[in-house]
Amino acid sequence: MPQKNIYRFGRDYATLSIAPKRKVYDEKIIRRGKDEYRIWDPTKSKLSAALQKGLRNTPFFRGMKIVYLGAANGTTPSHISDIIGQSGLIYAVEFSSRSMRDLISVSRARKNIIPMLADARMPDTYANQIEKADLIYCDVAQPDQTEILIRNAKLLLKKGAYIMIAIKARSINVIRNPKHIYAEEREKLKKEFDILEELNLHPLEKDHAFFVAKSR
Ligand SMILES: C[S@@+](CC[C@H](N)C(=O)[O-])C[C@H]1O[C@@H](n2cnc3c(N)ncnc32)[C@H](O)[C@@H]1O
Repeated sequence: MPQKNIYRFGRDYATLSIAPKRKVYDEKIIRRGKDEYRIWDPTKSKLSAALQKGLRNTPFFRGMKIVYLGAANGTTPSHISDIIGQSGLIYAVEFSSRSMRDLISVSRARKNIIPMLADARMPDTYANQIEKADLIYCDVAQPDQTEILIRNAKLLLKKGAYIMIAIKARSINVIRNPKHIYAEEREKLKKEFDILEELNLHPLEKDHAFFVAKSR
């Protein structure tokens, strides 16, 4: 069951906005008194898709530190920002300068998001600006996505902390059966982490698997 700070409105999941009156994408808003709940679109966020597919492990807590690889325009980071609250921190790594402009604008209203223009393949270039993380979230859609996560985890993840990764099979190989690709990526993850959960995000996200694991 998803934890508190993740809300349900019928079949939808939502987060309570820490930056009311500021939409991040075209999310639907539900108002209750002064509170604004942002409906979390599962077709625009793999984490919301994973929740819709029954994700049990949501290791988020107020005040935690997160390294987010592939933050793009801030869609999923903004919902996580609501969940972890003002005392938490998301180091939002993104290498596209176009996306970074949107991310900077999102971070103006959300002080718990620190945009970092950097290549996630080279964590040593930003490691000295980052506190050790309670969670690394990886959604970079690259052929070496698992290796990118592992490299970051070795430098930046606390022991006994968590990783979440959205594996995009088509970024690894466009013709191979995604199930074989997930199996290979699972083996790589197993060498470094204890896997807690694996979900296939089909049909909300085609050819994507989602893993949650814990560092040793
Ligand atoms: C699928 S999108 C991420 C969507 C985002 N996680 C969300 O849910 O809102 C993948 C993003 O990863 C970024 N990316 C890919 N390779 C990267 C790298 N090596 N370093 C940093 N960002 C990278 C891309 O520019 C793109 O914005």
